[in-house]
Amino acid sequence: MINRTCVVVLFLCGFAAGVPAIAQDVTYIRAGQLVDVVDGRLRSNQTIVIRGDRIERVGNSSAIDIPAGANVIDLSDATVLPGLIDMHVHLTGDPDAQGYKNLAASVPRNALFGAANGRRTLNAGFTTVRNVGAGGYADVALRDAINNGDVAGPRMRVAAHALGITGGHCDNNLLPSEYGARGGGIADGPWEIKKKIRENVKYGADLTKFCATGGVLSKGTTVGAQQYSLEEMIAIVTESHQRDRKVAAHAHGSAGIKAAIQAGVDSVEHASLIDDEGIRMALEAGTFLVMDVYVDTYIIEMGEAAGFLPESIEKERIVGQAQRDNFQKAHEAGVRMAFGTDAGVYPHGNNGKQFAYMVQYGMTPMEAIQAATVNAAELLGWPADVGAIESGMYADIIAVRGNPLEDIRELEDVRFVMKGGEVYKQ
Ligand code: ARG
Repeated sequence: MINRTCVVVLFLCGFAAGVPAIAQDVTYIRAGQLVDVVDGRLRSNQTIVIRGDRIERVGNSSAIDIPAGANVIDLSDATVLPGLIDMHVHLTGDPDAQGYKNLAASVPRNALFGAANGRRTLNAGFTTVRNVGAGGYADVALRDAINNGDVAGPRMRVAAHALGITGGHCDNNLLPSEYGARGGGIADGPWEIKKKIRENVKYGADLTKFCATGGVLSKGTTVGAQQYSLEEMIAIVTESHQRDRKVAAHAHGSAGIKAAIQAGVDSVEHASLIDDEGIRMALEAGTFLVMDVYVDTYIIEMGEAAGFLPESIEKERIVGQAQRDNFQKAHEAGVRMAFGTDAGVYPHGNNGKQFAYMVQYGMTPMEAIQAATVNAAELLGWPADVGAIESGMYADIIAVRGNPLEDIRELEDVRFVMKGGEVYKQ
C-alpha cells in the first residue's frame, strides 16, 4: 500500500515537472541476505529492481546503481526470500467450527471468513496458495475478489467442489438422510465424475481435488480405505487434464495412494500410509507428495474442545506419526515434495509452523524452503511467475530478521511482505 501511495505521489510530481511518469514506477530493495532457491544458496548484499508488479533485475548491490530520489526499501539487516506458497489450504474453512459446529455456517459467511483468512495468510508470508476444496464456489469468489483488489490476500489457485464418492470423505455425512445433506462434489462413476468436473470448470475451478481414500475429519470413513475405484480415478485425471486442470488426490491409505499415482494425478495430498511400492511409483511417475506434517500436533492438542469428532481423534492417532516417518522415507528416496499444511483445520496464518517439522523429519532448511517455493510453483503450473526472485517473476518478496537456513523457525515470524510489487506488511 505504502508503495502504491508513493508511486501515485511520484506520478503527480513527475507529471507536474514534465518527467515521464513511467520511470518512477520502480522500487529498489536492498537485501542484506537473499535466499536463492533456484541455486540453493544464500547470497549477500543483493539489490532487487522491481518495475510495476514484476522483478526486473536482481544482482549484487555493487553492480546495481540506485538513482538519487528513487523509491528504496532497505532490508539490509534482514534475509529476503521469495513469497512462500502453501499448496494445501482451505481459506474458507473455520478452525473453530469442526465437526457438527461446521453445519451452522453458510457459504456466504464462509466466503467472508475467507477474506479475513486471506489477509492472515498473506501477513504470514504466504503470497500464493492452492485452495483444495470449498463449498458453493466461495473459493472462486475469494480468488476473484483478491485479484480485483477488493480484499487483500494471496494469489489463489482453487479447486471449487472436491469430488468424492457418496458417503466418502468429501461428502457430508453428519446428518441423517431426511436432511439431504450432501457434498457439492459428490459424483459416482465416470460419467457423473466428468460432468462434475465440467461444472467445476464452468464456474471457475483452476484444478481438480478428489478424495481417493477415507479421512480423519469426516464421519464414518475408514482413514486407510480406498474410496474411488481406479476406473473412476482415471476418469477424473483424463477429464481434468483435457480441461487443462491439474489433479490433487486426498489419500491416506496405501492402496488409494497407488491407484491415484497409477491414474496419473499430479499430487497426492497427505500420503500418510504410503508404502515402499507407493514411493517407487511416485518416483517413477514424478508425482509430487504434499504431506501436511504439522497439523497432527494441533489436532491432538486441541482434541474435542475444538469440535473434532472423537472418531477423528482416534483416526489421527493412526496416521499422525506414521505420516511423519513416511515423509522422511519418501524424502530420502528422492520423491518430489511440495509444501502444504491443511490450514483451516488449524488457525490460518500459522502455516510457517510446518517448516520445523519438515526439518525435524529429514529435510535441510533449504529443501524445506524449496518445497514451499520452486517446487510448489512447478506443481501449480506457474513456474515462470512465482516461487523465486528472478527477473520476469512477480515481485512476491518476504523478509525475516535472522537466517532461516540456520534457524528454520525464523519463517514463523515474517516481518515484511510484498506481493506483486505492493507492500502489505513492513
Ligand atoms: N483433512 C485431513 C483429513 O481429514 C486432515 C488430516 C490431518 N492429519 C494429518 N496427520 N495430516 O483426512
